[in-house]
This record gives sequence, C-alpha cells and structure tokens, in this order.
Amino acid sequence: MNAPAHVRLVDVSPRDGLQNEKRPVSTEVRIGLVRRLQDAGLRHIEAASFVSPRWVPQMADGAAVMQGVRRRPGVRFAALVPNLRGLDTALDAPRAAWPDDIVVFGSASESFSRKNINCSIAESIERFAPVVAAARAQGLRVRAAMSCAVGCPFEGEVAPEAVGRLARMLRDIGAQEVAVADTIGVGTPDRVRRALDAALAHYDTEDVSGHFHDTQGRALANTVASLDMGIRQFDTSVAGLGGCPYAPGATGNVATEAVAALLHDRGFTTGIDLARLMEAGQYIRNALREEVAPA
Ligand code: HMG
Ligand code: MG
Repeated sequence: MNAPAHVRLVDVSPRDGLQNEKRPVSTEVRIGLVRRLQDAGLRHIEAASFVSPRWVPQMADGAAVMQGVRRRPGVRFAALVPNLRGLDTALDAPRAAWPDDIVVFGSASESFSRKNINCSIAESIERFAPVVAAARAQGLRVRAAMSCAVGCPFEGEVAPEAVGRLARMLRDIGAQEVAVADTIGVGTPDRVRRALDAALAHYDTEDVSGHFHDTQGRALANTVASLDMGIRQFDTSVAGLGGCPYAPGATGNVATEAVAALLHDRGFTTGIDLARLMEAGQYIRNALREEVAPA
C-alpha cells in the first residue's frame, strides 16, 4: 500500500494574521502563539515581517519575535522581506534567529503592487532580484507570494496571463517556490485552477502553494481544487486570522484547523495534532480579546 501523502501547511497567523489587527499585539503574545503552533506540530511557521514600520506598525517587532522564540528542531521559520533593507535586518541577528525561508511578495495586479509596496511590478522584480540572490547565497530558501492572483481590490478580475508573467519573472530571478495568493478571497475553484495552471507553466507542482483568504467562504473549496491538481502546500492561519492592511475587504486566511481537518479526513498527513491546534487558536483569540478590550 502507498504511504499516505503528506501536505505541508505553513501557518501564517503570526504574520498575516496579526499584521491586520487594529492594535499591535505584544511581542510576548506573538511568541506565545508561535510556541503553541510548534506544540501543535506545525513544521512551517511564518513568524515575522521585515517591512517598514511606518507601513505596517503591527510587524515592527519582527527581530524580537525571531530572537524570542525557542525553536524546535525541524521547524522552519519564514519571514517576509520586501527589500535589501529588510533582509539586512533579518540577518542582523545571531544565526539561530535567522529565518530559514524568506518570502518576497509581488502582485499580479499593478494597482495592488503600488498600494502595497509602492512600486510597479517591474520595479518590484528589480528590487527582489538582489534580495533573492543575497538570501540564497546565505543558504536561505526563497518563496515568492503572488498577491491578487485571481482578483484585485482595485482592478477586479485578474487574468491568468498576469499570474504567468509574474511567475516567469520570479523564476528568472531565482525564487524557488511561488504561492498563488487570493488576497481578497474572491476566487472560485475554476479561477483558482486557472491561476495555478499559469504558475505551473513555470514551476514544478511541489514548488507551488495556495494562499487563500476566506472572504467569501470559498477558501476550502479552492483548497480542494488545488489538491486535485496535485498541490501539496498551503498557507493557512490558526483561528482564520489574517488580511492585508493595503487590501480593503481582505479578511482572514483559511483556518489551519479547517484545512487540517479536511486533509486528515481525506487521508493526508500533516503532522498536526488538531486538539493542540485548537488550543493555539483559543490562546490567540483570548489574547486578542484581552489586548483590544478597553482599559
Ligand atoms: P517606500 O516608502 O517606497 O520605501 O516603501 P522607501 O525605500 O522610500 O523607504 C521609506 C521609509 O521606510 C524609510 O524610512 C526607510 O528607511 C524605511 P524613513 O527614512 O522615511 O524613516 N524602510 C524600511 N524600514 C524597515 N524595514 C524595511 C524598510 N524599507 C524601507 N524593510 C516598502 C516601500 C516596500 C518598504 C513599503 O511599501 C512596505 O514596507 N510595504 C510593506 C507592506 C506590507 O507589509 N503589506 C502586508 C504584507 S503583504 C501581504 O499581506 C500579502 C500576502 O499575505 C499574500 C496575499 O495574501 O496576497 C503575502
Ligand atoms: Mg495574505
């Protein structure tokens, strides 16, 4: 009998989840969340973002988080890096606090690129190229997120050709994996399939992942459509936290709890202990309630 297939879930709640909270969550809570995600068996955690604190104040403590977490062996930590300045900050720490993976983030739509990282798609690729090269030279793995791969809050529907063009440019500068991101959760299984196909023209199946926000309640259906195409990696967020401050209307990522349960039902392994994952979700829900409660 074949061994059950494994699906890799990257929990992005400490980053995508908490970047969108109106009031910054304390460093202690973010470290507490990361610890509980490790306890729940997550082996990939997106823990920080080395972006401008003027753009996203919620992520200003990335270095403190990376230095404060006690890492379990075998757990890979990822961080978002928009430019060389961000990479320098990420690596200006003891090696043990470096991210294992960095994520550059581009957009398939011009308008979102400008709103989110203040440059055109072409400029973003020029900016990412030295970041990718420097990160790989240090032995880090580089992923690239492709935002607005099915729809844009400013331009509406995004053509798969735009996703294909972006994937090709990212491959050409050396990004090793790409995430097809439905930033505002407007995808349907058909549209997600077309976006994935466009990415798969330039990347092997094992190097393409899905990053689905659940704004319109279709993220699980989009996950199933991706699984049927052979995709085995997804970004998910415990408690369904998430959203991008520069994407009006974007709500949370699909919940890690929901995706893990669906995968286990279908016979996939994830390494995740669902009961402990629920505890991690409860922890962050409680912490958010307490931290945002009026004094
Ligand atoms: P800019 O204003 O064009 O950049 O922003 P700049 O080079 O002119 O610098 C402006 C200021 O920021 C300067 O400071 C720089 O030093 C500083 P000042 O001199 O004015 O005091 N700065 C930095 N500080 C810390 N770390 C840095 C950094 N870079 C510059 N790395 C920039 C361009 C890209 C920096 C800005 O637009 C930015 O930080 N954007 C990030 C926005 C963001 O984080 N969005 C959310 C994450 S993406 C997302 O959620 C989508 C995803 O989940 C997938 C999906 O769902 O679609 C990944
Ligand atoms: Mg996102």
